[in-house]
Amino acid sequence: MKIAIIGSGYVGLVTGACFSELGNKVICADNDARKINGLKKGLVPIYEPGLEELIVRNARNKRLFFTASIKEAVKSSEIIFIAVGTPPLENGEADLTGIENVAHSIAVNMKGYRLIVEKSTVPVETGDWVKHTITHYIKDKTKFDVASNPEFLREGSAIDDFMHPDRIVIGVESKKARDLLTELYRPFKVPLVITNIKSAELIKHASNAFLATKISFINAVSQICDKVGADVEEVARGMGLDKRIGPSFLKAGIGYGGSCFPKDLDAFVHISEKTGYDFKLLKSVAKVNIEQLSSVLKKIKDSLWIIKGKTIAILGLAFKPNTDDIRNAPALRLVRMLQEEGARIKLYDPQAINKARKVLDKVIFCADAYSTCRSADCLFIATEWDEFKELDFVKIKKLLRRPLIVDGRNLYDPEVLRKLGFSYISIGRKKV
Ligand code: UGA
Repeated sequence: MKIAIIGSGYVGLVTGACFSELGNKVICADNDARKINGLKKGLVPIYEPGLEELIVRNARNKRLFFTASIKEAVKSSEIIFIAVGTPPLENGEADLTGIENVAHSIAVNMKGYRLIVEKSTVPVETGDWVKHTITHYIKDKTKFDVASNPEFLREGSAIDDFMHPDRIVIGVESKKARDLLTELYRPFKVPLVITNIKSAELIKHASNAFLATKISFINAVSQICDKVGADVEEVARGMGLDKRIGPSFLKAGIGYGGSCFPKDLDAFVHISEKTGYDFKLLKSVAKVNIEQLSSVLKKIKDSLWIIKGKTIAILGLAFKPNTDDIRNAPALRLVRMLQEEGARIKLYDPQAINKARKVLDKVIFCADAYSTCRSADCLFIATEWDEFKELDFVKIKKLLRRPLIVDGRNLYDPEVLRKLGFSYISIGRKKV
């Protein structure tokens, strides 16, 4: 099928590359001409395992194209996915300027029937606005449909998530739109959830909000574990084996971050308010998330006594492993909080250092975990990268000025570290 993707960011590029891999002819558009020129040369602007390979292969096989012209993209495709950003406004509401601009451009460039599909995460009723906008600006009586097809991929495992989803959600309001999207997704042998547009839009926000709720729930439980000497890992395992609860997204830590959960939760609270419903539950989820990081800072303070003048080695900055994304990364906030208290920060992340340099001041960026630990008063684990799971702690103990580890991701066995002579503090587990 002939597909256009408007917006070549995270979701747009992964969607475009994967649809082309499945044999469709895909054109990815973006108004950032530099990005498009780079993509034409095989330069992928984001770090995502496997993405570059997929883009290069499909571009070479003439199934994947890039353009800085929306007109060209609209002209050459029947299904147009909108995958532009919906960043938060100051009040938490999603900024839909990008979506409106794209809808307008599609309207003025559309010469025959087109199916316009929302792929970006958008507030419920955005589909109606897209429809109104196109109807308003369209030049003649050209027919079109609008649909919603939210994406559930995670950074770091985006390609696998796209190719092997748990379900595909399609919100449609005409048979033609339904048939086109069913045909497009025919290669996927997974449940197809076909709803109206508003339900599809809500499924996305409700799913992200629910996952964030699970995380804040287990983080809240970790607070109790800390107080009474229980082990949050054991509690989570015991809960997760109940099929009604499930084991995933019950990992206690320093709180969720990234470009989706914090933003989508705020947007969902805002949408609810607009409908007249006060979504108190989600407000608490966000509050617990912020407080989790403050409690982590307190753990560091309680161990070091005075933070001012101390050197803290931090391993990991990305909001989770296998990505260089530091948007809303809890570790970024922690670095700033520690700096405000007068700490000197040494930092290493396998992928995020280039991005970190642009936003952090007075941080000593290191080339690996060991040089980060040299002469530090405390080692803090912020992101659970695989390479941090098997560190040589005998070496680390010699490098640190003081054998103190605060582990924000519960990566290590407390007993093993205790035997090695460390003071080891983690989240919701026995302090040794
Ligand atoms: C999230 C959703 O998982 C995707 O389904 C969705 O498509 C995406 O948002 C989106 O809306 O685009 P993502 O933000 O890439 O994906 O990352 P997740 O793997 O969900 O992790 C989010 C945050 O939660 C990370 O900071 C992670 O460290 C934290 N987390 C996750 C925990 O603290 N504990 C857990 O048990 C799981």
